[in-house]
Amino acid sequence: MPSRPTLTRLLTCLLTVLSSGHAISETAKPAQDGLKQITEDASAISAAEPLINTSITPTGPDYHSFANSDDYRTKHLALDLNVDFARKVLHGKATLQIETLTQGNTPLILDTRELDIQSVQAGHNGQLHEVKFSLGAKDTHLGSPLRIQLPKDATTVTIAYQTTPGASGLQWLEPRQTAGKKHPFLFTQAQAIHARSFIPLQDSPRVRITYDATIRTPKSLRAVMSADNDPTVGKNGVYKFHMPQQIPSYLIALGVGNLDFKPMGKRTGVFAEPELLDAAAEEFADTESMLETTEEVYGPYRWGRYDLLILPPSFPFGGMENPRLSFITPTVIAGDKSLVALIAHELAHSWSGNLVSNASWGDLWLNEGFTTYLTNRIMQFVYGDERYQMEMALGYDDLQIDLAERKDGDEILAIDIRGRDPDEVFSNIPYEKGSLFLNELEQKVGRDNFDRFLLEYFNKFAFQSISSADFIKYLQQTLLKQYPDKLDMKRINQWIFAPGIPQGAPHPQSDAFAKLDPLRQQWLNGKIKTSDIDTSDWTFHQWKYFLDSMPEKLTATQLQELDKTFGLTASKNNEIAFSWLMITVRNNYQPANDRLQTFLTNIGRNKFLRPLYRSLMENGKADTAREIFEKAKPGYHPLTVKVNSLIVYGDKQA
Ligand code: BES
Ligand code: ZN
Repeated sequence: MPSRPTLTRLLTCLLTVLSSGHAISETAKPAQDGLKQITEDASAISAAEPLINTSITPTGPDYHSFANSDDYRTKHLALDLNVDFARKVLHGKATLQIETLTQGNTPLILDTRELDIQSVQAGHNGQLHEVKFSLGAKDTHLGSPLRIQLPKDATTVTIAYQTTPGASGLQWLEPRQTAGKKHPFLFTQAQAIHARSFIPLQDSPRVRITYDATIRTPKSLRAVMSADNDPTVGKNGVYKFHMPQQIPSYLIALGVGNLDFKPMGKRTGVFAEPELLDAAAEEFADTESMLETTEEVYGPYRWGRYDLLILPPSFPFGGMENPRLSFITPTVIAGDKSLVALIAHELAHSWSGNLVSNASWGDLWLNEGFTTYLTNRIMQFVYGDERYQMEMALGYDDLQIDLAERKDGDEILAIDIRGRDPDEVFSNIPYEKGSLFLNELEQKVGRDNFDRFLLEYFNKFAFQSISSADFIKYLQQTLLKQYPDKLDMKRINQWIFAPGIPQGAPHPQSDAFAKLDPLRQQWLNGKIKTSDIDTSDWTFHQWKYFLDSMPEKLTATQLQELDKTFGLTASKNNEIAFSWLMITVRNNYQPANDRLQTFLTNIGRNKFLRPLYRSLMENGKADTAREIFEKAKPGYHPLTVKVNSLIVYGDKQA
């Protein structure tokens, strides 16, 4: 268990974070006041002055964008892009409609990363003229600021550009990396700060825009976007999109491949390669019911259709909540719906994240913690109480692992990640600690009241980007006022600003898991054999729990027995395979080596890859880790290469 933070520890921790002086690039914004602002806000709030503020002004700067979004705000983006698979580049034009917020002659600053900017035009009423621009020095994490000298009254800026083949937000796949093996595939992944590697724009989650796009592809392929995909349009090589709702740049997404469509319900369907289409539609057949039950509790789904795009297995995440079209790894198509919490999760983001978004990446918990809480609830609506308890209990165990591994500063929900790469900070903390916090609020005020609170929260902040401080202000105006005897600001501050989890926090457990403990124990003590255990009605979740709670060390005989009876090395469920491989790596169980190698080579999901590579390194297998990594690298996504080469080579050779 992590230690309990006292008030002193909380203060010490805040001071440490404030004075930690993370490397701040010369070009980045003034650094020291972000967290201070939040903490001051939080303490000002606890001084009990109820702030009724309807127009949300996000607190503090966004340290992960160069954009001067307080001087100029982009309102709309129009893209016209060609998808060139031979050169592995997107090329064309991005046109931004901007509003000028301050007077004066400041240049417009956009975010870019490794973009080749060819020309910039600006003006208004269709009268555009070539203008001067310059690209600033490259920052390792942030890319390069693009400074554009705007004529007075300019409302339109058009940038002609092309991407570079290594763009961090794109993965160009060879036909052999796809299910059909005949056509290439391209997909984008913009969260957190990679939209700038394929579009020059204000790449901050506090800037919300609508967009249009024309995407030109080879004729045999289909393009889909986080916009109004029309599944009835045939493949013809030119695709037009419109996204009428205001979204942050990290939700702009494009996929191009040999894609077909199959409907699952009235508003839901799947885009996938034909080889995967039926299996995917069957696996995710409950998506429509998930959508309906979520609406009943948290308010209307405001995005029109909800479709899924099934990607090749190199996709670095399980899923990505691109609006109207979640991007999904094929590795969750297990054949028994055991891994569909992922769909509930991406769908839930249509409320928590896409409707109400974090205004900067230090507040990721506002997206992921709320979404994890909603995911569990959706799983309960659709699959019942037992599944709910099991999902929560597994989440809680994941949290314990991360809390044991992280430094205090990284255990904080409103985390200070100034000067750091959001990709490298990624952990379960914003997800599971955030969710546990909401779980506690729910328990304290009662489920119905908390449901109403969330419904109103989504309505109040719909299509806005907010900070932890904004959330706290809102709590002050609502739950804290309504339930002064049940909630207090001190504990809420502790949840959001202190490491660890407060004493007396909920501890989700599952009876279905508890009954496995004595069996595992008896087997470990040699009292029973694996063949004595009746696993015929075990669910995926029970298998995962059974394996994840094995002791660090098992003997060769124990490993063989487990594998022989349960066929674990051959498991077709990727989560089970992963849990088993974690055991085999730390115990040096040779018969699983081939499976390990194919697993690490064919799958790009970092939730699996990072722990496996880390474990290889920690268990004296650096050579094996590097050998597999080098072999697999040409097929990995740029993000997968980045985060895992840090693991296998350390800082020296990223
Ligand atoms: N939005 C995230 C993925 C993400 C987070 C990308 C931060 C970049 C930066 C997505 O919704 C997510 O959380 N995916 C998880 C799903 C899981 C928790 C069910 C994943 O990919 O594993
Ligand atoms: Zn998420």
